[in-house]
Amino acid sequence: MAFSNISIKLVRTIPAGSPTLKDFKVEAVDTPSESSLKPNEVLIRSLYFSCDPYFRGRLSGTKDSYVTSFIPGNPLEGRGIGIVEASTSPKFSKGDMITSAAFKWENYFISSDAQLTNIPSNTGISPGNHLGVLGMPSFTAYVGLVHLCKAQAGETILVSAASGAVGQMVVQLAKTRGLRVIGAAGSDDKVEFVKSLGADVVFNYKTCGNLGDTVKKAAPQGIDIYFDNVGGELLDVALSSMRFFGRIAACGMISQYNATPETAYHIKNLGNVVTKKVTIYGYIVSDYFAKPVYKDFIDEVSARFKKGDIQYKLDEVVGIENAPQALLDLFEGKNFGKRVVKVGGVI
Ligand SMILES: NC(=O)c1ccc[n+]([C@@H]2O[C@H](COP(=O)([O-])OP(=O)(O)OC[C@H]3O[C@@H](n4cnc5c(N)ncnc54)[C@H](OP(=O)(O)O)[C@@H]3O)[C@@H](O)[C@H]2O)c1
Repeated sequence: MAFSNISIKLVRTIPAGSPTLKDFKVEAVDTPSESSLKPNEVLIRSLYFSCDPYFRGRLSGTKDSYVTSFIPGNPLEGRGIGIVEASTSPKFSKGDMITSAAFKWENYFISSDAQLTNIPSNTGISPGNHLGVLGMPSFTAYVGLVHLCKAQAGETILVSAASGAVGQMVVQLAKTRGLRVIGAAGSDDKVEFVKSLGADVVFNYKTCGNLGDTVKKAAPQGIDIYFDNVGGELLDVALSSMRFFGRIAACGMISQYNATPETAYHIKNLGNVVTKKVTIYGYIVSDYFAKPVYKDFIDEVSARFKKGDIQYKLDEVVGIENAPQALLDLFEGKNFGKRVVKVGGVI
């Protein structure tokens, strides 16, 4: 029986401004067959794709990045979870569940075995949550908060995009370490969710009025750690509220990803980095998977999640054909939790 195969392809590169659905093509393509496998290759059926803000950089066509740009006419690719349908690799057998950072956005595709990792069947974690609670964004939270900023009990942290894939984990890891946690989120529902995770103060940055006053009221003594997911005005406000020897996890700046030279936000309070002796940690999580901190993260978070000490909100969009919109939603705050695409729709 022939299987249908849909491919999500990029139409054009988008150096600046907001991408739209027209920039993606949802195309029927041939399904690769077992007989076309070369040695050490695996035919994969996709179960979940991870939608991540770093895709925005890969849409831009830039060559000056830590990750390659998508090529117009080619499928998008990113982190995913799938099932091995056929294999010529001694490392993988039919039926294995695997993950990779180079999942093509197609129902079926062929991958070299070098890019794949087995997911044992006894982890007690759902397939989607291997992209969520144990996935790349959660690890990003751990690296920034624990490994780089070295969060200490009694300190005050401000977390932006606090309900998102990274933010919700930062909030919970910080609470379990005894910090006072202030969260910022973009809707009242998200604010309630972040409060339910244990944050001490949470505000809706879109409706709170003056951001500087809001942060000063929430942290009258200032901020020890700012976990920055958004850049822009909130970063500027955080800079003006940093305490001596404060740390900033420069994790992401999503508010600027679609900016043009005309709309880009210009930071005014960088001088506080000098006068308050602040350390800013810019980092990319892929540099840390091979380091001991990855095992620390897996051990702590999987144990806490199974015990119910940590929760994790996945935001599933069903259907590969909806993947472009699922991605675009991230840049308008329309996701609520870690956005994944449940591929589905396969005959
Ligand atoms: N350094 C690394 O290795 C690494 C790894 C993973 C992620 N990141 C970065 O971490 C950040 C969060 O990623 P995530 O996967 O956790 O995404 P996410 O928070 O699950 O989703 C993105 C969220 O960003 C907020 N947002 C979107 N546009 C915004 C704007 N113009 N201004 C302010 N907030 C806006 C929205 O939340 P609200 O509704 O609350 O505004 C949206 O829901 C991103 O900047 C991402 O690039 C970095």
